[in-house]
Amino acid sequence: MQVLFQVVRQNANSEPHIQTYSLDVEPGNTILDCLNQIKWEQDGTLAFRKNCRNTICGSCGMRINGRSALACKENVGSELARLQQISAANPDSGKSLEDIPTITIAPMGNMPVIKDLVVDMKSFWDNLDAVDPYVSTQSRHIPEREFLQTPEERDRLNQTGNCILCGACYSECNARQVNPDFVGPHALAKAYRMVADSRDDQTEARIENYGTGTQGVWGCTRCYFCNSVCPMEVAPMDQIGKIKQEVLDRQDDQTNRSVRHRKVLIDLVKDGGWIDERRFGLKVVGNSFRDLRGLSSLGPLGFRMIAKGKFPLGFEPSEGAAQVRSLINAVQQAEANQTESSTN
Ligand code: FES
Repeated sequence: MQVLFQVVRQNANSEPHIQTYSLDVEPGNTILDCLNQIKWEQDGTLAFRKNCRNTICGSCGMRINGRSALACKENVGSELARLQQISAANPDSGKSLEDIPTITIAPMGNMPVIKDLVVDMKSFWDNLDAVDPYVSTQSRHIPEREFLQTPEERDRLNQTGNCILCGACYSECNARQVNPDFVGPHALAKAYRMVADSRDDQTEARIENYGTGTQGVWGCTRCYFCNSVCPMEVAPMDQIGKIKQEVLDRQDDQTNRSVRHRKVLIDLVKDGGWIDERRFGLKVVGNSFRDLRGLSSLGPLGFRMIAKGKFPLGFEPSEGAAQVRSLINAVQQAEANQTESSTN
């Protein structure tokens, strides 16, 4: 079948442009097969990374039809089916597959382009390094042969251990896009792998480090993009959530604003079924009148809201607040039971 490939091409420090290639391909051809065909038969100047061709090395990350993926994993048939689904769900998008089907390929996001589909991954590797992604056994007696783990202890590492560091999650990370300090989902998924590793002896220091500022877990905006694009089902956002829970179990709401934000949010939802925004600001930003600078920072926003008639003067608990409360209590009880059984 005839398929058009629109490739976003670019040299470092120049404006991107689209180059279109027409190929005769089979639905089972991978996107990487197609790029190879372009490079070998039509245009040897096209630059992209590849190595294993088998979803192992993580080299061939790129944006395929708008989302980051591995070119050796996705194929023409599944991509066209996906486009068909998107156009059926958005009939007004103006996109139609009735003409020659078209697949768009672009470099990954959140990293500068070196050439065409090759991006500079320096920040990706530096941020991975920042979480100290190695098992630390400095203070431990080094065993004669190896550190033994039970099958259960090893099982806890399976999901995060599947990461092939392809960069897809980092490319789609919305938090990373607006916060250059945030280390990114790949690094925090690896961080959880270290926290969960029974051989590591730096757990407490790690949890404190990952829970400080917005470079760590509190920088995550929970947009789910990393989970949705990860080709290895590492679910980085879920791993970030597990570290957050470890932080919350150890720190009270006076530790910092991020911890307070999470705890106050749960308390208020438990109270009224949804958030009383007036109390939320005062408790989180103003730290219940302890943080005068935080309180004064709320002033301009409060005045603007009053001027526009948007300041909520009262608060009505939501319908079913009791049900919400009992759900939260049940989850908290289940978590407490789980913690108790894992420490016994
Ligand atoms: Fe190795 Fe695609 S070439 S993951």
